[in-house]
Formats: sequence, structure tokens, C-alpha cells
Amino acid sequence: QVIHLKDYTPTDFEVERIDLTFELDPKATKVVARSILKRRAGVAADRPLVFAGDALTLKALQIDSIDVSEQDFDATPDELVIRGLPESEAFEVTVETELSPDANTTLMGLYRSGGNYCTQCEAEGFRRITYFYDRPDVLTVYTVTIIADESVPQLLSNGNFLGGGAYGDGRHFAAWHDPYPKPSYLFALVAGDLGVIEDTFTTMSGREVALKIYVEHGKEARATYAMDALKRSMRWDEEVYGREYDLDIFMIVAVSDFNMGAMENKGLNVFNDKYVLADPETATDQDYANIEAIIAHEYFHNWTGNRITCRDWFQLCLKEGLTVYRDHTFSQDQRSAPVKRIAEIKTLKAHQFPEDAGPLAHPVRPSSYKEINNFYTTTIYEKGSEVIGMLRTILGADDFRAGMDLYFERHDGQAVTIEDFIACFAEVSARDLGQFMLWYTQAGTPTVTVSTEYDRDKQRFTVTLEQNLRPTPGQPQKQPMHIPLGYALMMPNGTAVTGAPQTAAASDTVLHLTERNESFVFDGVEDRPVLSINRGFSAPVNILMESRADDLVALARHESDGVARWQAITELATRHLVKAAGLARDNAALPESGRLADILIAVAGDATLEPAFRAQVLALPSEADVAREIGKDIDPDAIHRARRETLRAIAAAGQRTFSSLADDKPSGPFSPAANDAGRRALAGMALRYTALAENDAQRLAEAYANADNMTDRINALTVLAHDFEDAPETQAALDQFAERYADTPLAIDKWFTVQATAPGAESHARVVALMQHPGYTRGNPNRVRALLGAFAAGNPTGFNRADGAGYRLLADEVLAIDRKNPQLAARLLTAMRSWQSLESGRREEARKALVAISSAGDLSVDLSDIVERTLQ
Ligand code: ARG
Ligand code: ZN
Repeated sequence: QVIHLKDYTPTDFEVERIDLTFELDPKATKVVARSILKRRAGVAADRPLVFAGDALTLKALQIDSIDVSEQDFDATPDELVIRGLPESEAFEVTVETELSPDANTTLMGLYRSGGNYCTQCEAEGFRRITYFYDRPDVLTVYTVTIIADESVPQLLSNGNFLGGGAYGDGRHFAAWHDPYPKPSYLFALVAGDLGVIEDTFTTMSGREVALKIYVEHGKEARATYAMDALKRSMRWDEEVYGREYDLDIFMIVAVSDFNMGAMENKGLNVFNDKYVLADPETATDQDYANIEAIIAHEYFHNWTGNRITCRDWFQLCLKEGLTVYRDHTFSQDQRSAPVKRIAEIKTLKAHQFPEDAGPLAHPVRPSSYKEINNFYTTTIYEKGSEVIGMLRTILGADDFRAGMDLYFERHDGQAVTIEDFIACFAEVSARDLGQFMLWYTQAGTPTVTVSTEYDRDKQRFTVTLEQNLRPTPGQPQKQPMHIPLGYALMMPNGTAVTGAPQTAAASDTVLHLTERNESFVFDGVEDRPVLSINRGFSAPVNILMESRADDLVALARHESDGVARWQAITELATRHLVKAAGLARDNAALPESGRLADILIAVAGDATLEPAFRAQVLALPSEADVAREIGKDIDPDAIHRARRETLRAIAAAGQRTFSSLADDKPSGPFSPAANDAGRRALAGMALRYTALAENDAQRLAEAYANADNMTDRINALTVLAHDFEDAPETQAALDQFAERYADTPLAIDKWFTVQATAPGAESHARVVALMQHPGYTRGNPNRVRALLGAFAAGNPTGFNRADGAGYRLLADEVLAIDRKNPQLAARLLTAMRSWQSLESGRREEARKALVAISSAGDLSVDLSDIVERTLQ
């Protein structure tokens, strides 16, 4: 069944409030939902009330406390229809359902994780708890009473605590009231025996908010960084957006079984424990950065998502793209802005660009879907964030902030659309943003072809741009978009250029491309300049520029903007690797990497640059980056050989520089702050180059043994496992790690991932063996993603083994997982979204594996949606 945006209609009845009572029991939880409803004016008196359900069992049904007679309702597991309701006056519907949290393996609705009860309602999990209008445009006030055995001490829900107490029969209760009307997807309940850390935050208007983070007993100390990040997030939203927190209490609960990263339930965020728990022994610097970002993300949702929510799920990017944008800028402010921006660009290109280029492409605001869970995608999140960034670039910081202020003021308490949001910016800036809306409605990554011309006699420099957008599923024709391209002109030696743009469509820093073809003229330019374009990645597009290698080298050496400099070096490195991969495929000698090596080594040794930036540069484009650039008929083995040899050549050329950098680590007690993290990143990168140059596993084994934090430890282990797979030191270190962290599942996940991503055909057998490891289970999404997910999405040579064994393994596991957790299965399979760009042998093997899934019986809607779209 396909849902279409154009079919949107409001509900026939409005909901004044809802009271929920839970009597918790692992196998038979009783839920009583009482809601006050009223037929909307103009709705015919014979229209029934239709509530959604999912796998529900109705136990009792009353209207105004009187049992509804059988001919007046129909209840199936996924729908409740009640007829004969009052024409105009309000009435109370009482629905009783019974659930088995223990039997719920989907991790949607009410389930148990680590013995505790928890819920996940976004997008459509509330209908697994009770029959209701489970849609985001029905906002109402919730009062929740939770009753449980006293062995379950904490009983939590949204809003403010009303009170609680013991019944004297071994049971107790707690009641919560959330004064802010909200949609059902923001409902949450958590009950269990948990450890807690507490703090307070005083808001800008002087209100004191209690902050609590709940974790498994014994893990309290690992939640302190999350608490710190929360307080910084709260302050930042006040300072940057004027947004204040609005309840007396803000709670976060970490659970170990969770489909996604975290969930912004009003006043009661539920988190995948991976994004809460951290200490130097178990978490890497990347983990700390992720925790900071996701804590901020969920907190920021309180305004962008909760106070103002989505009219329907087509508008998902209204809250997600915007909130990602907010968490990105938060992290940029907390850390190094260019380094964070580079990480964002890498992620976007590594995940969103392939999605946009393949069969799963969809607009930032889709117009139809079969299963909304399959639209929590990198397009809606990350591209959605880039669209907000472009909006700010086009409007300028002041109008952007004014538009946000108007949005908060005008739509507080409402469920709205992208049009409502954009209208605020159009209004404050007096601009027509009609063309800009195409970023929301057209799928695909535009390509901008750039050509330049210098006329020495006229002292005129001309930049000609042409935009193209290829057809995507369901969208054969595309219109030209408004593409804001950051730019700079400089002389090849790095000095600034005199001369000014002669058109209104260009400012000193941005070329606004709005036509299919457009030329931008600069007069008074005394010599042929070098053009730096899409500076800072101001637009999520592919740039095609026949720039001379010399120009790129000039930018790589002299670009004053760090992000743009990284872009130039990356472009240079990508060109080199693409060429090398072509030669490797023909078993020819690889090209000289001297000039590239010189640039990288110069950056590595340049102490005036931030260490984290130098580490980003040294990382080189990944094998997947190179594959994406090649685009079709891909041979992952050739790419791997080309990249590995290039790394070795650079390592040999820069051995002295790398070797001294490898030992240059921060001193003193461990700090997760960006400065120290950057130094560890650079030292870690240098260690890999050094080990490659020396061809010496011993050095790595020592680095592994001497590491006093997880970042250094896992880095050494990764280089051992990926570059020295046969060295005895490697197995020894792997065994030591497994023993050391046997009781820390999140650390064992890293161990799974290191092995699952070790290149080569043997990784398939290793993954199969690891699936039998006692620490592994198909029932936990983190485990599955760490092993199978990492293998499928992060091991180009292993997963794409020419005989198709990798694809078959994924297909078998996806089918097995689908029976328990459809969302997880569907998500895993998206690793195959680029199968059509492989060389013909692998493409055929991949197709067969997809067909095997498609023709298996009884697929979930989630999985069948992904497999059918992937095959088309
Ligand atoms: N709104 C959450 C976030 O981005 C994501 C929850 C999605 N969950 C799901 N089951 N689809 O913060
Ligand atoms: Zn979100």
C-alpha cells in the first residue's frame, strides 16, 4: 500500500487529551487509554472513528464508560473502527489492550531491553501500544500512570512528575503529566531498575531544571560526558537560537537494544547506550564526538520537532534536516569548525551521494512511501541539513536567524509543513524561495560543470557554469535549481586577486547559479587566476571541472580556507587514485605519486595547521570514495591494490616525518576535548604510515600494548588486522582485546568491526565464524551492525567477493533478521544500493542474492520495500 503526500486530510475527530494507565508485566501488560474526542465541524455524523493499531489485541472498549455493543465496532490487529458516535458533543473513548513486552523483538512499541521496559514510538510504534490516531498532526495532552511491581523502582514518562506511591500489595505507581500537546510518536515510558546520575541546569530566565541520565547499574561513571554535553547543548540553544527548555525535568535513558541512535521523546529521551556511555578505556574520540552530537541533536528536537512538529511523515526533514543542521553547527562551535565541516562533507559524500545516485534515491521531502521507517535516511537527515545550510548562505546570517525566530513564534504548538517553514524565510527576507523549494522535491545530486576563460587583453575572467540533474526513480524530468557556490579567486602563488564580479548573481564569496547555463564575468583581473569553487561545500553537488592539475596543486598548497584546501587535496588524491585503479586493473605499473606525496607530507609536517586537519588530509579518499568517483563497472580489488600501493609510496617518501609524528601524543591525563583528540588522530594516522614504511608489525604491537586509551588501542589493532593480517602479533593482539573487553559489549563491537572490515576474500569466513562468538546475537542491532553491517558497508573487497559469497551471506542473514526485526533487516540491505555500478560478474551475483530475498516468502513491508526498489 502506497501513501501519497497529495492525499493528506486531517482527522475527522480532534483529541482534547489522553490518559494512559499501564499495569506492567513482562508477558501481559495491561494498557488502558482514555481519550476525549470531538467530531470536527463539518464532518458528517455517520463518519466512524478510525484508530490505527499494529498487532494489537483489544480487551475492552467503552464510550463514556459504557461498553460499546458489538455491532458498533470492528477491531482487527491493525485497526479499530467505532460507529454511532455523538454528532457534536465531546465523548470519552476507553480502549483496553494487552501486550507482551517480552515477545516484542521489533524494538517498536513497548519492549524490554536488559530487563527494563522501554518504548520507541517514532514513527508508528504507538499503535503497537494502543489503538489511536497514531499520526503526527494529532497533538494532545498526555497524563500517564504507570503501575508495576516494587522490584521495578523507576517508573518514568514524559513531562513533569505528578506523584506516586506504594499500594501496599507489593506494587507501586507513578504519574506524569506533560502540559505540552504532542503527537503520539513523542510518547515514552521507561520502567526498570537503573543507575542514575543527576545534575541541574538553570535556564536563561532563571528556572532550575533537574537533569537525570539513567544507565545500567555500575555504568554511572560512563555517563558524565553525556551530562556535560547536555548542559552545553542547553546553553548553546539559548545563546544561538534563544530557545529555552520548558519542563521541570529532562531525562535521558540509555538502553542496549535500540534500532536507531536515539529518540527525542518529550522530556524523556531514550538513547542507544552507544551514544551515552564513554570513558577513555572503552570509547574512542569518535565515540565522544558522536555522543556530543547526538545528545545535542535530541535535545535540540525539543524545539525543532517537539514544540513544532510535522504535519505528516512526508515532512520528516522539517524536523530532522533542521535538527541535524543545528547539531552540526553546535559541534562546529564546540570543536574546530573546519575539521567538523570536513567530517560532514565526507559523511555526506560517502553515504548520501550513493543513495542519491542509486535505486533508493528520493527527494528530501518524498511524495510517496510504502514504509516510513525506510525514510529515516541520509538524504532526509544529511542532505536535509545541507539544504538548511544553503538557505542560510542565500539569506545571510541575519535573515536566517530572523526566519527561525518567526518560525518559532508563528508555529509553536503546531504540526506544519516545509512550505510553512520556508514561508517564514521568504517573509523576513522578502525573497521568492519558489525555486529553492526544488531542493526539497527533486531527488538526485546535481552536477555543475565549470569552465573558465581568461582574456588577457580585456583583463577579464569568465566562469561558465552548467547544471545537470539526471533522472531518478519516478522523476524523469528535472528543473534547474538555485545552487549557491562559494568561491574564491587567487593567483597561482596564493596571492589575492584584484577584480570584481560584474553580475548581481555573484557576491564576493558566492556565485548564485539559478539557470541551466550561466556565465559570471570578472573585470580588472590582471593575470590568469585560479578558481576555487564550491568552497566549504556550500552546495551538495558534484563539481566537474577540467581544471589543470597545476591549478589544483596551487589550491592544495595555498587555499586560505581549510575546508577548501582539503577539498583541493582530496580532488587531487582522488584523480590520482582513479587513474591508479584503472592501471591496477590492467596489471600495469602505477603512476608516480611524487607530487601528491609531497603535498601530503608537507601538510603532515606543518605545525601551523591543526593536528586534526592534518589527520583528515592524510586519511586519503577511501576505497568507496574512489569507487563512487569511477561510478560504473567497478572492480573493488583493483581499487584496493591501487590505494594500498599509493599509501605505501607516500609512507616511504615521508617516513621521517611520519615516524616522529607517530610518537607525538598528548601528555597528561586523558581528555576527550577536540585538541587532544586531534593530536591522537594525527599520531594514529602517522603510526599507520610508519608501520607501512617499515613493514613492521612489532612497532604496532608495542603501540597496542602501550596504549592507555581506546582510541590509540583500536587504531593500532586496526592497522595490525588490516595491513598485517598474517603477522603473529595481530592474532595475539586480537585475542588480548577480546579477553580484556569480554564484559563490555560496546567494546567487543569494535573488535567485530575491525575484523569484519579487514580487506580480502578471507573476511567472509571470518565473519561467519564471528557470528558464532558468544558475544554476538542477531537480536541486538548494535551487534548486527558492528559485524554484518560493517562487513557489508565497510569492506569493499570482502563483501564484494567475486564469487558472490558476501552477498549470499547478507541475504541469508537479512532474511533471518527480518522475522524478528524488520527495521534492522531493511536497513542492513541498503548496503546493496550501489550494486548496479559493479563490474558485470559481481553485478550478476548481487542481483541473484537480491532476487533470492525478493522471492522468499513472508517478507516484512520494510524489507520488501527496500528489496523491490533496489532491484528496479
Ligand atoms: N527521531 C529520531 C532522531 O533522529 C529517530 C527515530 C527514528 N526511529 C525509527 N524507528 N524510525 O533523533
Ligand atoms: Zn532527529
